[in-house]
Amino acid sequence: MDIQLSKHVALVTGAGEGIGRGCALALAEAGADVVVNDVNPVTGQATAAEIQKMGRRSLFAQADVSDARAVQAMVEAVQREFGVLHVLLNNAGFNLFKNLEQTSLEEWDRIMSVDLRGIYLVTRGMLPLLKIARGASVVNIASVHAQATIADITAYAAAKGGVVSMGRSLAQELGKHGIRVNTISPGFVRTPLLDRWLNSEPDPQASLARVNGFHPLGRIGTPQDIGNLVVFLASDYSSFISGANITIDGGLTARLMH
Ligand SMILES: NC(=O)c1ccc[n+]([C@@H]2O[C@H](COP(=O)([O-])OP(=O)(O)OC[C@H]3O[C@@H](n4cnc5c(N)ncnc54)[C@H](O)[C@@H]3O)[C@@H](O)[C@H]2O)c1
Repeated sequence: MDIQLSKHVALVTGAGEGIGRGCALALAEAGADVVVNDVNPVTGQATAAEIQKMGRRSLFAQADVSDARAVQAMVEAVQREFGVLHVLLNNAGFNLFKNLEQTSLEEWDRIMSVDLRGIYLVTRGMLPLLKIARGASVVNIASVHAQATIADITAYAAAKGGVVSMGRSLAQELGKHGIRVNTISPGFVRTPLLDRWLNSEPDPQASLARVNGFHPLGRIGTPQDIGNLVVFLASDYSSFISGANITIDGGLTARLMH
Protein backbone atom coordinates (compact mmCIF):
# COMPACT_ATOMS: atom_id res chain seq x y z
CA MET A 1 0.00 0.00 0.00
CA ASP A 2 1.68 3.16 -1.17
CA ILE A 3 -0.05 6.03 0.60
CA GLN A 4 0.21 9.36 -1.15
CA LEU A 5 -0.97 12.48 0.65
CA SER A 6 0.32 15.06 -1.80
CA LYS A 7 -2.15 17.95 -2.25
CA HIS A 8 -3.30 17.34 1.34
CA VAL A 9 -3.01 19.99 4.04
CA ALA A 10 -2.71 18.62 7.59
CA LEU A 11 -2.66 20.32 10.98
CA VAL A 12 -1.09 18.60 13.97
CA THR A 13 -1.50 20.11 17.44
CA GLY A 14 1.32 19.67 19.94
CA ALA A 15 3.72 18.81 17.10
CA GLY A 16 6.88 20.24 18.66
CA GLU A 17 7.77 16.98 20.39
CA GLY A 18 6.74 13.39 20.95
CA ILE A 19 3.78 11.77 19.20
CA GLY A 20 2.72 15.01 17.50
CA ARG A 21 6.16 15.56 15.99
CA GLY A 22 6.37 11.93 14.85
CA CYS A 23 2.94 12.17 13.21
CA ALA A 24 3.71 15.52 11.55
CA LEU A 25 6.89 14.04 10.03
CA ALA A 26 5.05 10.88 8.92
CA LEU A 27 2.35 12.97 7.20
CA ALA A 28 5.01 15.08 5.48
CA GLU A 29 6.88 11.92 4.45
CA ALA A 30 3.66 10.76 2.76
CA GLY A 31 3.53 14.05 0.83
CA ALA A 32 1.28 16.32 2.92
CA ASP A 33 1.89 19.97 3.68
CA VAL A 34 1.74 20.30 7.45
CA VAL A 35 0.71 23.10 9.79
CA VAL A 36 2.67 22.57 13.00
CA ASN A 37 0.96 23.79 16.15
CA ASP A 38 2.59 23.95 19.54
CA VAL A 39 2.56 26.20 22.58
CA ASN A 40 6.38 26.02 22.57
CA PRO A 41 7.83 28.15 19.72
CA VAL A 42 11.32 26.60 19.84
CA THR A 43 10.29 22.98 19.31
CA GLY A 44 7.36 23.92 17.07
CA GLN A 45 9.54 25.92 14.69
CA ALA A 46 12.11 23.11 14.65
CA THR A 47 9.48 20.59 13.48
CA ALA A 48 8.23 23.02 10.82
CA ALA A 49 11.81 23.56 9.60
CA GLU A 50 12.36 19.77 9.35
CA ILE A 51 9.22 19.47 7.21
CA GLN A 52 10.32 22.30 4.94
CA LYS A 53 13.65 20.51 4.47
CA MET A 54 11.66 17.53 3.18
CA GLY A 55 10.34 19.80 0.42
CA ARG A 56 6.84 20.29 1.86
CA ARG A 57 5.12 23.51 2.81
CA SER A 58 4.92 24.01 6.55
CA LEU A 59 3.61 26.76 8.75
CA PHE A 60 4.29 27.05 12.48
CA ALA A 61 1.20 28.23 14.34
CA GLN A 62 1.92 28.97 17.97
CA ALA A 63 -1.17 28.54 20.12
CA ASP A 64 -2.22 27.04 23.41
CA VAL A 65 -5.09 24.83 22.21
CA SER A 66 -7.11 25.68 25.32
CA ASP A 67 -7.01 29.41 24.52
CA ALA A 68 -9.99 30.36 22.33
CA ARG A 69 -8.37 33.56 21.02
CA ALA A 70 -5.09 31.89 20.14
CA VAL A 71 -6.98 29.09 18.38
CA GLN A 72 -8.98 31.65 16.38
CA ALA A 73 -5.72 33.33 15.29
CA MET A 74 -4.43 29.90 14.20
CA VAL A 75 -7.61 29.27 12.19
CA GLU A 76 -7.13 32.61 10.42
CA ALA A 77 -3.48 31.80 9.66
CA VAL A 78 -4.40 28.43 8.10
CA GLN A 79 -7.21 30.10 6.15
CA ARG A 80 -4.80 32.72 4.80
CA GLU A 81 -1.96 30.31 3.95
CA PHE A 82 -3.86 27.26 2.68
CA GLY A 83 -7.63 27.99 2.55
CA VAL A 84 -8.46 24.31 3.22
CA LEU A 85 -7.71 21.54 5.73
CA HIS A 86 -7.82 17.83 4.79
CA VAL A 87 -6.41 16.29 7.98
CA LEU A 88 -6.74 17.48 11.57
CA LEU A 89 -4.79 15.62 14.24
CA ASN A 90 -5.78 16.75 17.74
CA ASN A 91 -2.80 15.49 19.69
CA ALA A 92 -1.81 18.20 22.21
CA GLY A 93 -2.24 17.00 25.76
CA PHE A 94 -0.51 16.14 29.00
CA ASN A 95 -1.08 13.80 31.92
CA LEU A 96 -1.20 14.17 35.67
CA PHE A 97 -0.17 11.49 38.14
CA LYS A 98 -2.04 12.72 41.20
CA ASN A 99 -4.67 11.22 43.45
CA LEU A 100 -7.99 12.92 44.08
CA GLU A 101 -6.89 14.72 47.24
CA GLN A 102 -3.68 15.99 45.63
CA THR A 103 -5.45 17.25 42.49
CA SER A 104 -6.23 20.93 42.89
CA LEU A 105 -9.21 22.54 41.18
CA GLU A 106 -6.77 24.45 38.96
CA GLU A 107 -5.04 21.21 37.90
CA TRP A 108 -8.39 19.52 37.20
CA ASP A 109 -9.52 22.48 35.10
CA ARG A 110 -6.18 22.70 33.26
CA ILE A 111 -6.19 19.08 32.15
CA MET A 112 -9.80 19.32 31.01
CA SER A 113 -8.96 22.57 29.18
CA VAL A 114 -6.02 21.20 27.24
CA ASP A 115 -6.92 17.51 26.74
CA LEU A 116 -10.66 17.96 26.11
CA ARG A 117 -11.67 21.58 25.50
CA GLY A 118 -8.69 22.01 23.18
CA ILE A 119 -10.16 19.41 20.79
CA TYR A 120 -13.53 21.15 20.88
CA LEU A 121 -11.97 24.57 20.18
CA VAL A 122 -9.62 23.49 17.39
CA THR A 123 -12.16 21.24 15.63
CA ARG A 124 -14.92 23.86 15.84
CA GLY A 125 -12.58 26.56 14.58
CA MET A 126 -11.26 24.46 11.68
CA LEU A 127 -14.67 23.12 10.64
CA PRO A 128 -15.25 25.56 7.74
CA LEU A 129 -11.83 24.60 6.29
CA LEU A 130 -12.48 20.87 6.84
CA LYS A 131 -15.82 21.14 4.99
CA ILE A 132 -14.06 22.70 2.00
CA ALA A 133 -11.79 19.62 1.74
CA ARG A 134 -14.78 17.36 0.80
CA GLY A 135 -13.63 14.19 2.55
CA ALA A 136 -11.55 15.41 5.49
CA SER A 137 -10.24 13.20 8.28
CA VAL A 138 -10.19 14.23 11.94
CA VAL A 139 -8.12 12.11 14.33
CA ASN A 140 -8.12 12.66 18.08
CA ILE A 141 -5.49 11.21 20.39
CA ALA A 142 -6.98 9.69 23.55
CA SER A 143 -5.20 6.98 25.59
CA VAL A 144 -5.61 3.40 26.76
CA HIS A 145 -6.44 5.08 30.09
CA ALA A 146 -9.93 5.65 28.64
CA GLN A 147 -10.47 1.85 28.66
CA ALA A 148 -8.33 0.42 31.45
CA THR A 149 -6.43 2.49 33.93
CA ILE A 150 -4.62 2.74 37.27
CA ALA A 151 -5.15 4.56 40.54
CA ASP A 152 -4.11 8.19 40.99
CA ILE A 153 -4.68 9.39 37.42
CA THR A 154 -8.39 10.25 37.66
CA ALA A 155 -8.37 13.64 35.93
CA TYR A 156 -6.39 12.35 32.93
CA ALA A 157 -8.51 9.18 32.62
CA ALA A 158 -11.68 11.29 32.75
CA ALA A 159 -10.43 13.71 30.09
CA LYS A 160 -9.37 10.89 27.75
CA GLY A 161 -12.69 9.09 28.29
CA GLY A 162 -14.29 12.34 27.15
CA VAL A 163 -12.13 12.37 24.02
CA VAL A 164 -13.33 8.87 23.06
CA SER A 165 -17.01 9.76 23.62
CA MET A 166 -16.65 13.08 21.79
CA GLY A 167 -15.29 11.23 18.75
CA ARG A 168 -18.31 8.92 18.58
CA SER A 169 -20.79 11.79 18.54
CA LEU A 170 -18.75 14.00 16.23
CA ALA A 171 -18.41 11.19 13.67
CA GLN A 172 -22.20 11.12 13.43
CA GLU A 173 -22.53 14.88 13.29
CA LEU A 174 -19.87 15.46 10.64
CA GLY A 175 -20.49 12.43 8.40
CA LYS A 176 -22.93 14.45 6.30
CA HIS A 177 -20.03 16.71 5.31
CA GLY A 178 -17.94 13.68 4.30
CA ILE A 179 -15.74 14.24 7.37
CA ARG A 180 -14.55 11.09 9.15
CA VAL A 181 -13.73 11.29 12.86
CA ASN A 182 -11.64 8.63 14.58
CA THR A 183 -9.86 8.26 17.89
CA ILE A 184 -6.48 6.68 18.52
CA SER A 185 -5.79 5.29 21.98
CA PRO A 186 -2.06 4.72 22.39
CA GLY A 187 -0.47 2.74 25.17
CA PHE A 188 3.11 3.49 26.29
CA VAL A 189 4.95 5.56 23.66
CA ARG A 190 8.56 6.75 24.04
CA THR A 191 8.24 10.56 24.15
CA PRO A 192 9.40 13.39 26.46
CA LEU A 193 6.11 12.91 28.36
CA LEU A 194 6.97 9.26 29.04
CA ASP A 195 10.57 10.18 29.87
CA ARG A 196 9.33 12.64 32.51
CA TRP A 197 7.50 9.76 34.19
CA LEU A 198 10.46 7.39 33.82
CA ASN A 199 12.79 9.99 35.33
CA SER A 200 10.47 10.33 38.34
CA GLU A 201 10.93 6.61 39.07
CA PRO A 202 13.68 5.51 41.50
CA ASP A 203 15.43 3.47 38.76
CA PRO A 204 14.34 4.65 35.26
CA GLN A 205 16.18 1.85 33.41
CA ALA A 206 14.57 -0.82 35.60
CA SER A 207 11.15 0.78 35.13
CA LEU A 208 11.61 0.85 31.34
CA ALA A 209 12.61 -2.82 31.32
CA ARG A 210 9.58 -3.67 33.48
CA VAL A 211 7.21 -1.74 31.19
CA ASN A 212 8.73 -3.26 28.04
CA GLY A 213 8.09 -6.64 29.63
CA PHE A 214 4.34 -5.92 30.00
CA HIS A 215 4.08 -5.97 26.21
CA PRO A 216 3.60 -9.15 24.15
CA LEU A 217 5.94 -7.54 21.61
CA GLY A 218 8.53 -6.84 24.30
CA ARG A 219 8.73 -3.11 23.66
CA ILE A 220 6.85 0.14 24.08
CA GLY A 221 5.71 2.15 21.06
CA THR A 222 7.39 4.93 19.10
CA PRO A 223 5.94 8.14 17.65
CA GLN A 224 6.52 6.57 14.21
CA ASP A 225 4.20 3.67 15.16
CA ILE A 226 1.43 6.19 15.82
CA GLY A 227 2.38 8.21 12.72
CA ASN A 228 1.89 5.14 10.49
CA LEU A 229 -1.68 4.75 11.75
CA VAL A 230 -2.39 8.47 11.38
CA VAL A 231 -1.19 8.41 7.75
CA PHE A 232 -3.54 5.47 7.08
CA LEU A 233 -6.47 7.26 8.76
CA ALA A 234 -5.68 10.40 6.76
CA SER A 235 -5.78 8.49 3.48
CA ASP A 236 -8.56 7.13 1.27
CA TYR A 237 -7.54 3.59 2.25
CA SER A 238 -9.53 4.21 5.46
CA SER A 239 -12.49 5.85 3.68
CA PHE A 240 -15.07 3.59 5.45
CA ILE A 241 -13.58 3.96 8.93
CA SER A 242 -15.33 6.55 11.08
CA GLY A 243 -16.45 6.70 14.70
CA ALA A 244 -13.79 4.13 15.63
CA ASN A 245 -11.49 4.12 18.65
CA ILE A 246 -8.34 2.29 17.62
CA THR A 247 -6.09 0.99 20.36
CA ILE A 248 -2.39 0.94 19.44
CA ASP A 249 -0.50 -0.52 22.36
CA GLY A 250 1.52 -3.55 21.19
CA GLY A 251 -1.03 -5.85 22.81
CA LEU A 252 -0.76 -4.29 26.29
CA THR A 253 -4.49 -4.05 27.05
CA ALA A 254 -5.23 -7.50 25.62
CA ARG A 255 -3.45 -8.85 28.69
CA LEU A 256 -5.27 -10.37 31.60
CA MET A 257 -3.51 -10.36 34.99
CA HIS A 258 -2.91 -14.05 35.68
N1 LIG B 1 3.49 9.08 25.41
C1 LIG B 1 2.57 8.22 25.77
O1 LIG B 1 2.89 7.13 26.28
C2 LIG B 1 1.12 8.51 25.51
C3 LIG B 1 0.20 7.45 25.66
C4 LIG B 1 -1.15 7.68 25.42
C5 LIG B 1 -1.58 8.92 25.02
N2 LIG B 1 -0.68 9.94 24.88
C6 LIG B 1 -1.20 11.22 24.44
O2 LIG B 1 -0.54 11.61 23.26
C7 LIG B 1 -0.48 13.04 23.18
C8 LIG B 1 0.96 13.48 23.00
O3 LIG B 1 1.71 12.97 24.08
P1 LIG B 1 3.31 12.96 24.07
O4 LIG B 1 3.71 11.79 24.86
O5 LIG B 1 3.82 13.15 22.70
O6 LIG B 1 3.57 14.29 24.95
P2 LIG B 1 4.86 15.26 24.99
O7 LIG B 1 4.74 16.02 26.26
O8 LIG B 1 6.07 14.48 24.72
O9 LIG B 1 4.57 16.25 23.76
C9 LIG B 1 3.41 17.04 23.79
C10 LIG B 1 3.57 18.25 22.90
O10 LIG B 1 2.35 19.01 23.01
C11 LIG B 1 2.66 20.35 23.31
N3 LIG B 1 1.58 20.93 24.10
C12 LIG B 1 1.29 20.68 25.41
N4 LIG B 1 0.25 21.43 25.80
C13 LIG B 1 -0.13 22.16 24.73
C14 LIG B 1 -1.14 23.12 24.53
N5 LIG B 1 -1.95 23.50 25.52
N6 LIG B 1 -1.27 23.67 23.30
C15 LIG B 1 -0.44 23.30 22.28
N7 LIG B 1 0.54 22.42 22.44
C16 LIG B 1 0.71 21.84 23.64
C17 LIG B 1 3.96 20.29 24.08
O11 LIG B 1 4.65 21.54 24.04
C18 LIG B 1 4.70 19.16 23.36
O12 LIG B 1 5.41 19.64 22.23
C19 LIG B 1 -1.13 13.56 24.48
O13 LIG B 1 -2.49 13.86 24.21
C20 LIG B 1 -1.00 12.37 25.42
O14 LIG B 1 -1.99 12.38 26.41
C21 LIG B 1 0.65 9.76 25.11
